[in-house]
Amino acid sequence: TSVRWNQDELNLQDYGHYMLKEIMEQPEAIKRTLKDRLTESGVVIPEVDDFFAKRKLTDPERIIIVASGTSHHAGMIGKKILETMLDIPVEAAIASEFRCEHGRLDEKTLVIAISQSGETADTISALKEAKKSGAAVIAISNYRKSTLARKSDCVIYTHAGPELAVAATKAYTTQITALVLLSIVLAKKLHGSGEGQIPALLDALHSLADDVEKCLVMTQDAIDQFAQVTNDQEHLFLIGRGLDYVLALEGALKLQEVAYLHADAYAAGEMKHGTMALITPGVPVIALATQEHLRDKAINNIKEVKARDAYVVGITTTGDDEVSAVVDEVLYIPEAHPFLMPVLAAIPLQLLAYYAGIVRGYDVDRPRNLAKSLTVE
Ligand code: AGP
Repeated sequence: TSVRWNQDELNLQDYGHYMLKEIMEQPEAIKRTLKDRLTESGVVIPEVDDFFAKRKLTDPERIIIVASGTSHHAGMIGKKILETMLDIPVEAAIASEFRCEHGRLDEKTLVIAISQSGETADTISALKEAKKSGAAVIAISNYRKSTLARKSDCVIYTHAGPELAVAATKAYTTQITALVLLSIVLAKKLHGSGEGQIPALLDALHSLADDVEKCLVMTQDAIDQFAQVTNDQEHLFLIGRGLDYVLALEGALKLQEVAYLHADAYAAGEMKHGTMALITPGVPVIALATQEHLRDKAINNIKEVKARDAYVVGITTTGDDEVSAVVDEVLYIPEAHPFLMPVLAAIPLQLLAYYAGIVRGYDVDRPRNLAKSLTVE
């Protein structure tokens, strides 16, 4: 199966799969997440203003982001963003773990619950635990009147539109977009040290949908080549540093879910502490090098796996010749604010997983053993 697609042939009816349709819809979905919130003068989220007025939660001492699966990966991105923008500790907890072993919670704890469906049992149980302890809960969800929305003190909707493929794609990118909006509003309300980043973030948000559009017309040859190479592989590694490591976790989940590849994500600097023993000639490695301030170290880590003859696909920013010089295939994405690079770099990872699944002949919309919403624990 060829993985080439002709951009203007693709229209909603002809995507062939919901997953590809929902990948291609991401610029529009992000525009809907930003609509009426991203203004010329900054960010407004009325629901959060009401929440602060009503709850008088003027100074949370701790934030815990609870979610499952891809939404947890968005939460991990959110943790790093909120930690940088605010001066309070932020934790990203797996919902099924949090509900059994959460630390001290009280009315000074702000819990952010992320769930596309708003019906994930683990996340709802975690929310109930949080409310029992007096914590305030802000939800980020894609469905109005979902259980999560009804039980939270405040809901920020992603407006991504229905996501029918089991694999979450536009849910992830709109959740991160919503978290960046929230971080800007909270930084202003709490006078976080990240206030200085707001002008650059606003610029990046204004061009985000266009930047995602550019990612969608990805170099098809590299994706085709990758899909063919992985066709007869069972194991694959993804490596990255900082936000690129968190993004690698999401890329691994997509490849597991949709292409049934045993994909594992590692902090790039961690490979030499053991996992390098698994790097044999030809094993595919996706190397994420989109965080400018970590790029030199990322390049060193790429060289480490290349020295063991891995087949490396690099994802980096357009024009980065240093990374392209040390990898087998390179996928370029536009340069944006570091907080938004995970949104842009998610696109090639989603497309790689989709086409690897197609080439391997799997049902990419309804993968075996999985359901779209896990309403039972
Ligand atoms: C991700 O591709 C999966 N569909 C799954 O991990 C999903 O993200 C998880 O079940 C959480 O779903 P939710 O966002 O609806 O709570």
